[in-house]
Amino acid sequence: MTSFAKTSRAAEILVSREQIAETVERMAHQIQEDYPAEMPLLVGVLKGSFIFLADLVRKMQRPVEIDFLRVSSYGSGVKSSGSVGLRMGVTSLVRGRDVLMVDDIVDTGLTTSYAVKYLRRKGASSVKLCTLLDKPSRRQMPVVPDYMGFTVPDQFIVGYGLDFDEQYRHLPDIHVLAGGVDES
Ligand code: PRP
Repeated sequence: MTSFAKTSRAAEILVSREQIAETVERMAHQIQEDYPAEMPLLVGVLKGSFIFLADLVRKMQRPVEIDFLRVSSYGSGVKSSGSVGLRMGVTSLVRGRDVLMVDDIVDTGLTTSYAVKYLRRKGASSVKLCTLLDKPSRRQMPVVPDYMGFTVPDQFIVGYGLDFDEQYRHLPDIHVLAGGVDES
């Protein structure tokens, strides 16, 4: 039997589970402080955000409502084509509400830009972005996260929700993918 460990390309740990836990808690506290009256609707961007969002809400001491959306890229499997579309929208009423988008990583910024426009079109009073990871070196759109955990270098990373070919999302730490991938 070939073990996962033997075949895994998840190499060195870039961000450990301990660093993640500490940062997620800090971010949850900050968000609660910034919305003293009413918590925003948290909208997780699928699929990558699912673990971060789950940990984030469990560090909040106030009731919070969540929803999800999914944005897809077309073309090469990475977003170099610059073309994104909505694959799944929210079901909550967004009109007149403060929305906080939650994502695992901002890379080119195309996903965020598209999702912000979508949520504004649905009538959100405000749309902010909370991302665990930021890779500003690859930005194509002028996206600046309102809440951000870690700035990461231009390496292909996996774990804690981030995948390579749908693998490795389950890993508790964030790893560099050995060998990298061609994202051009
Ligand atoms: C990843 C990640 C972000 C997006 C960021 O999602 O979860 O949503 O890419 O990239 P961008 O800033 O270049 O748009 P992906 O489209 O890979 O789908 P997934 O979340 O289902 O893995």
